[in-house]
Amino acid sequence: MNGHSQRKPLRARPEVEQLKGYSAPLEGRRGLLRLDFNENTLGPSPKVAEAIRAFPAEQIAIYPEYDGLREALIANLESSPAGLACALTTAHVGVFNGVDAAIHAVIHAYGSAGDTLLTTSPTFGYYGPCAGMQGMAIEAVPHELPGFVFPMEAIGAALLRTPRILMLCNPNNPTGTRLPAAQVLALAAAAPQTLVVVDELYEAFTGDSVLPSIDFRAVPNLLVLRSLAKTAGLAGLRIGFALGHPEVVDRVGRVTGPYDVNSLAVTAAMAALGDQPYTDAYVAEVLRARHWLVTEMRRERASCHVAGGNYLLLWPRRSSATVEAELRAAGILVRSMAGKPQIDGSLRISIGTTEQMQLFWQAYQAIDSEP
Ligand SMILES: Cc1ncc(COP(=O)(O)O)c(C=O)c1O
Repeated sequence: MNGHSQRKPLRARPEVEQLKGYSAPLEGRRGLLRLDFNENTLGPSPKVAEAIRAFPAEQIAIYPEYDGLREALIANLESSPAGLACALTTAHVGVFNGVDAAIHAVIHAYGSAGDTLLTTSPTFGYYGPCAGMQGMAIEAVPHELPGFVFPMEAIGAALLRTPRILMLCNPNNPTGTRLPAAQVLALAAAAPQTLVVVDELYEAFTGDSVLPSIDFRAVPNLLVLRSLAKTAGLAGLRIGFALGHPEVVDRVGRVTGPYDVNSLAVTAAMAALGDQPYTDAYVAEVLRARHWLVTEMRRERASCHVAGGNYLLLWPRRSSATVEAELRAAGILVRSMAGKPQIDGSLRISIGTTEQMQLFWQAYQAIDSEP
């Protein structure tokens, strides 16, 4: 053995050495019915594929340009039925390599070691690792049972201790817990020294967004996250947005690289934002499919929980690990919630089209019959 092989590897920062990273079971999913990541199960607008096919080869060799993308998002939001309460400028919009990258950047920019990140539990699994890598403490307030109700009073009380960041997921993944926009605004107004981040990844399925009623001049400590991953079907290209007061957007932008979002993602995003009717039709189909599935589940007295979002929770009669494995063998992927507080033993089922839900329900009933 020489001296080199005996050397210990360099250690990372203590926070990173202790970190349990966020790992998602993403392998071997092709060709299966993917009801495990709340993705769009049909794919993006055909205009997205057309735009990518027409992407000029010479642009691959140059760094991406973001001209027009922020304007396109603002125009898209302005033309939504609920509209915007006040005019947004490009300085209100940050562009990220998915909302995951936005979450990482926000916490990196605002969270110092020893600060607290306040959130609810259970919630989206990436907030914790991002706080942990900064050395932040996490205060996760449980949802109220039964019904996984948003713990408004407990969050209000915790805000009195001025945590650095409050992370709200609305509707919450995985419980679907909904929070009316007025309550988000009230929380932000009550805690001006806390950065309140509202992750609106699934708002298209509830319509509870704060954007139609917010004036960032009055609530500069509120930041809204939006993505084209789940509804517009761009999960694989990675593009997300943060909307907020220009000073907050600027600070969050300071901790990202200048070209973190690639040119194909920009091209796809422009095409997707330009075809809102396609996304609206997909969302409407998911809501129809969710209604169909919930009706069937209730008829069969399945133990389930459904609120906002393109997903629901289902407690199988048999062990959730067995049912998950047997569904996979039948070509259908769902996500086990094993180990998550309050929902251990459940499966999270993403909602796709009615036809896909019929396939799922048929397979599920055959697998989870009475023991
Ligand atoms: C609540 C929530 N936020 C953020 C993300 C990540 O979104 P993106 O694909 O835009 O990074 C997800 C993905 O599952 C999510 O469920």
